[in-house]
Amino acid sequence: MDAAACVHMEARGDVCVITIDNPPINATSLAVRQGLMAAIFDFKTNSDFQAAVIVGAGSTFVAGADIREFGKPMQEPILPEVIRAIEDCGKPVVAALHGAALGGGFELALACDARVADAKTVVGLPEVSLGIIPGAGGTQMLPRRVGVSRAIRMICGAQRISAKEAKSLNLLDEVVASDVLDAAVALARRMQGKKCRIRDEAVPAEGPALIQQAAEDAMRAGKRRPAVEAAMEAIKSAAVLSIDDGLADERAVFLQLRLSREAYALRHVFFAERDSAKLPSELSATPIPVETVCVIGAGTMGTGIAISVLDAGMQVILLEQDAAALQRGQDRVIAHYRDRVAAQKMKADVAQAREACLHSTLDWADMAKADLVIEAVFEDLAVKQEVFKKIDQFARAGAVLATNTSYLDVDAIAQATSRPQDVLGLHFFSPANVMKLLEVVRGKDSRPDVLATGMALGKRLRKLPVLAGNHFGFIGNRIYNAYRNQCEFMLEDGAWPEDVDASLKQFGMAMGPFAVADLSGLDIAWRMRQAQAASRAPGVRYVDILDRLCEAGHLGRKTGAGYYTYVDGKQQPTTDEAVRHIIEDASQRRGIQRQPLNSATIQRRALLTIVNEAARLMGEGVASRATDIDVVLVHGYGFPRWEGGPVFWARQQNREALTQEIKDLASQCGDGFVLADLSVLFEDQ
Ligand code: 3HC
Ligand code: NAI
Repeated sequence: MDAAACVHMEARGDVCVITIDNPPINATSLAVRQGLMAAIFDFKTNSDFQAAVIVGAGSTFVAGADIREFGKPMQEPILPEVIRAIEDCGKPVVAALHGAALGGGFELALACDARVADAKTVVGLPEVSLGIIPGAGGTQMLPRRVGVSRAIRMICGAQRISAKEAKSLNLLDEVVASDVLDAAVALARRMQGKKCRIRDEAVPAEGPALIQQAAEDAMRAGKRRPAVEAAMEAIKSAAVLSIDDGLADERAVFLQLRLSREAYALRHVFFAERDSAKLPSELSATPIPVETVCVIGAGTMGTGIAISVLDAGMQVILLEQDAAALQRGQDRVIAHYRDRVAAQKMKADVAQAREACLHSTLDWADMAKADLVIEAVFEDLAVKQEVFKKIDQFARAGAVLATNTSYLDVDAIAQATSRPQDVLGLHFFSPANVMKLLEVVRGKDSRPDVLATGMALGKRLRKLPVLAGNHFGFIGNRIYNAYRNQCEFMLEDGAWPEDVDASLKQFGMAMGPFAVADLSGLDIAWRMRQAQAASRAPGVRYVDILDRLCEAGHLGRKTGAGYYTYVDGKQQPTTDEAVRHIIEDASQRRGIQRQPLNSATIQRRALLTIVNEAARLMGEGVASRATDIDVVLVHGYGFPRWEGGPVFWARQQNREALTQEIKDLASQCGDGFVLADLSVLFEDQ
């Protein structure tokens, strides 16, 4: 698009309306910056105009800089130049906000002399979530209005706040229920002859303790990432430097971070998240409308799924086999809403409206009203097949039928019905109302519109839906199993659980694998291993430490002992003698002379295994896009977002060296490690 197409001007009497029209989000791409510079010049030099309004076309104001430009050389005019032109034009400029005013979009608004927004607008400076800091004055302008400590919380926390909150912080002049452009034009007219530049304001004085507290909280919440620290320093400097020095420093840091590996990784995840929600073109179809969802099983997952669906404004029929379990499930949902109200995170009338959409029942005939049925009963194929036979009997024709199974064969479940084409997997993660990941599992008969319905539901629930093939463990659990096996190999080879956990946490994983296992309960994995024992190929390396722990009553956190011991619920830093004895015994039985493993080796072995398994499942067609794997690992398994996910990580390595290292690891691990062809990970780069 050229500058004239992206930015147009229109006269409303003596007010010049400058519209930014760069779909989908009116990013400040080069053409927009050029168009704005030309428009501001015309406005400044045309004596017919006494004031101007800047507004966004379509569904939003300006949601930020064009992130796709970040990997390329910057082209002038840069956004700070546009902002300076607005500040120095000599006549008032009002920003009319709707949709999102984020990053560079909010900086543009802060450069104006006043801001009017409609009530649904969100504003913020979320740049740190992209590994950068605001680069067009955000770190200097925001503290001039809200103070240093508040600016630290907003910018370092990448907060997106409502128009109401922004107004209360003096960041907006008016929040209107009527047409925002009309209101902005009226305000611009009232402001004739008046400039109110934030750059001329002083940073309000604040006690150092407040700033210190905000800084500590921000560093902790922001995991001490470089952008968070840099943003904090830039904001603090606003109180001591002149505005121009502060802006120059901010820009220098922005330009440096923009090219950092971390920023590149975070941009990769940003786009991978958006791509993963799109079905491949051969599956594109119109989703089936869903307003009522029947959730079967009111256990841990069923209640979490119910809350998630209620939060999206749909009706839920919660169906159970057992009256007591139904009551417990219903109580959990209601307690959840009561807690939200008590914590002032939800208004009481909203909570009541959500509760009113929950219909608990033991009567299968009630399912007839549902457009979508989600089964979340015990993880047992026979039980699920029985349940699907009944669903087939009671669900209306055309309803979409989903299973929340973690590992079981979706086709074997679908075959229990007379309509396997209507069946798919919807694999939610626990807690289902919190976790954003949703694997949409394609059975061999699943119709495209059924899959499209699963993807659309995911988006409506504000989740990240990812298409997965119907293979054991789908994408996430399949990779996680390989990773956990590798971590168990490392125990046998010489590491202790705390060595493995600490090294992987140091890499950035949210938790170590053995702490995770203790939290989930070792008995779940134990039961699955027992079920798979008969099908395990002889000679394949199998580590039985977990089985031994379970036999000794170490079922994890819930029994006070698993890999670790728990005293008053607190994990002890090192594993105890009994656990070490079980591990040493396993090494001895395999004839391994235990050697300590250093942190780099542990991290490398774990990552190489994840990458190898990612390539295996790409080769088998379980994932349709390599970058979907990054979204799954980041959002479902605590892989550090700033490392971009395992596929991104692999693409940063020397490919030949990586291939050789994986080969070496395979020979070191024996038959438990199946070598993949890595080329599939590099194809859609
Ligand atoms: N640059 C380029 N493309 C962007 C973009 C951006 N800043 N933000 C969104 N897009 C693209 C998306 O990739 C998507 O493209 P696609 O349709 O081809 O997949 C399309 O716009 C729509 O985006 P969403 O799917 O995310 O649409 P939603 O309606 O769900 O959300 C949104 C809209 C809230 C604006 C969300 O896109 C968002 O949060 N965007 C990022 C905002 C942001 O981080 N801004 C700061 C940028 S950095 C900056 O401004 C630096 C400055 O200080 C100089
Ligand atoms: P749960 O044991 O907490 O709940 C299962 C519920 O299903 C129980 O309340 C039970 O009474 C009910 N139920 C059993 N048979 C039924 C039937 N025939 N009709 C109606 N209700 C019936 O189990 P959980 O953890 O909620 O798991 C449910 C499913 O979700 C399983 O397939 C599991 O693999 C999957 N899952 C579990 C995750 C987790 O972390 N717990 C994560 C992702 C998926």
